Amino acid sequence: MSSELPPIEKAKFVAAKQATEYVESGMKVGLGTGSTAEWLVQCLGEMVREEGLRIKGVPTSKRTARLAKKVGIDVITLDEAKWLDVTIDGTDEYDSDLTLIKGGGGAHLREKIVATASDRMIVIADASKKVDTLGAFPLPVEVIPFGLPVTQSLIEETLSGLDVLGRDVTMRMQGDTPFVTDEGNFILDLHLKRIGNPRQLSLVINQIPGVVENGLFIDICDMVIVGYGDGRVTTRDITNNTANVVRFDVLDDDNIFSDVAD
Ligand code: 5RP
Repeated sequence: MSSELPPIEKAKFVAAKQATEYVESGMKVGLGTGSTAEWLVQCLGEMVREEGLRIKGVPTSKRTARLAKKVGIDVITLDEAKWLDVTIDGTDEYDSDLTLIKGGGGAHLREKIVATASDRMIVIADASKKVDTLGAFPLPVEVIPFGLPVTQSLIEETLSGLDVLGRDVTMRMQGDTPFVTDEGNFILDLHLKRIGNPRQLSLVINQIPGVVENGLFIDICDMVIVGYGDGRVTTRDITNNTANVVRFDVLDDDNIFSDVAD
């Protein structure tokens, strides 16, 4: 690994590396979106190219699809896969029940569909993603462009009756224009600060016309793998109620993935 790699990237890399332990030849694998998931895609690509790993990857975004193809992973659609053995993805927040806030990268709709169509969802993260109570990270809500101001008003009205601390709703932007998802929709970010009842919030928000999907993942994630800058990795599996720690040797002169780097 390059000595230039900052501790946060080392943390993401070792979490991703450990997650590859749960991937075997013949599997159909959901590939998440974001900077942590990109390490996973790179690790799997290396295993495909150098160790003969045979997998089919279902990307959760166009961005991940591009990277997966570039590193040599055989990419198929969810329609072709029908069901997946495992999905491995990053997160913006997770709590002790492994409830997640996702969608910081704007891909939570496809990510939720793919993870739900998997036997198991594994989240990979650095330690900053663990929270006692969800909500410091703004909750992304994907909405269709038609009737956007009405949908936003209905969300704001709904929030006034819910157990949250903040109620600001902002439009996700990319420069001067609205951010557009892979499905051609917009994202509203809900600045809730503290979410008292994620299950209720998720149900109520998703009932508003114009809302496609919110970024709360409830009862979807089975395992969280957390990496640290010193090479330590902790794994917590809530399905089997197990936890363990391993440590990777972080080599300063091993320039990983340089052969497929941009
Ligand atoms: C994308 C996501 C990402 O998994 C989440 O934003 C975490 O990204 P990163 O690994 O870059 O911190 O939900 O929609």
